[in-house]
Amino acid sequence: MENDQDQQRTTLYELIGGADSVLRLVEAFYPLVQAHPLLGPLFPKDITPVMEKQAQFLTQFFGGPTLYSDQYGHPMMRARHMPFPITIERADAWLGCMAVALMAIGLDEDLQRVVLERLKGPAYHFVNTN
Ligand code: HEM
Repeated sequence: MENDQDQQRTTLYELIGGADSVLRLVEAFYPLVQAHPLLGPLFPKDITPVMEKQAQFLTQFFGGPTLYSDQYGHPMMRARHMPFPITIERADAWLGCMAVALMAIGLDEDLQRVVLERLKGPAYHFVNTN
């Protein structure tokens, strides 16, 4: 019966407001990324496919349905980022854009902090060059 409790635990995905919030977050985030001098040049002009993948990925990263893995298999996110030169400065910039986007969608301040904390680990883990 212990498992019953596990299954009822609220996910971060639900806490932030589910699919609608993830979509609004991604839509607030990528224009900032594209406008950022350190990040913009790494991304394709047509950002729509990246936004779709990110919405799928963040959905599952926050504990929602496994949309990304269902379509693309194991995320292997560090490996998928290897073709791009990711410096600490770029990880900082990515997290900075995310902080602004979280604020822009009007997320509760405690939740803003929780989301950023969760993303910090992967962001710095993806650093692959000086
Ligand atoms: C640390 C700084 C980061 C940089 C500079 C960065 C940059 C990029 C770039 C250049 C792409 C490829 C765009 C393309 O398709 O051409 C990408 C894809 C992606 N990034 Fe990041 N990223 C960073 C951190 C993160 C973090 C922290 C996450 C999530 C935890 C993330 C999730 C994704 C996802 C889901 C994709 C799409 C992967 C796919 O093609 O299937 N990124 N990123």
